[in-house]
Amino acid sequence: MTLPRLAQMHASGEKIAMLTCYDAAFAGLLDEAGVDMLLIGDSLGNVLQGRGSTAPVNLDDMLYHTTCVRRGVKYAFVVADLPFDSYHVSKEEAWKSAAALVKAGAHMVKLEGGGWTTETVRFISERGIPVCAHLGFTPQTVTSLGGFKVQGRDEAGAARIKRESQELVEAGAAMLLYEMVPATLAAEITAASPVPVIGIGAGVGTSGQVLVLHDMLDITQGRKPRFVKNFMAGQDSILGGVKAYVNEVKAGTFPVDAVHGF
Ligand code: KIV
Repeated sequence: MTLPRLAQMHASGEKIAMLTCYDAAFAGLLDEAGVDMLLIGDSLGNVLQGRGSTAPVNLDDMLYHTTCVRRGVKYAFVVADLPFDSYHVSKEEAWKSAAALVKAGAHMVKLEGGGWTTETVRFISERGIPVCAHLGFTPQTVTSLGGFKVQGRDEAGAARIKRESQELVEAGAAMLLYEMVPATLAAEITAASPVPVIGIGAGVGTSGQVLVLHDMLDITQGRKPRFVKNFMAGQDSILGGVKAYVNEVKAGTFPVDAVHGF
């Protein structure tokens, strides 16, 4: 999988299936199931490290898991999260963090937020590392956002997401990712976007979908977000569950906006 192929999928309306992945064993299995993109998400803080948020995850954690995933993958495009406090102080610091993730095996890095991140995205992209910009609900800043809240519901919020998306793409972002935004807003932006748009809790109208692996395999304990579906239901193997996810994303039958959307 390559960036031009992902851009072609976005342009032709072929859906992109993405999942988080943190180790070589799952990377091989997700590859076999036909997942297009693997995200070494800083959600590993929650699902692997048992932490309450992604903020304590550090660059060394991300480098370790990126190395593991890259060893197991043959086909999928590998995206790694820039963790909290690894890109905030300066563009130079952000470049160093992004370059370390690329050396560990990432094809692309992801960072959270718009506005202040625009010049950082420009700096990293111009120097040759593709960047995915994560907008809407941004888990690294959950405290400032006042909790797990849908973003862009009101006119001002929606206008801000649209403006920041455009600025980020103009600055060189090769992909956008929206978390917990209204389905209508994500679909409208996707239709006009020159780059692929991945959604999580952002409706069926994006170029593709991502879920946290442990959520869709129903390993995560307790209450799960509305946008999660248990793909192990009715399956007798993990490979079967992941294939069911890929099939539903590709067919446009997951998510169902009325069930999983906002
Ligand atoms: O860290 C992560 O898993 C993510 C997804 C929620 C998109 O950023």
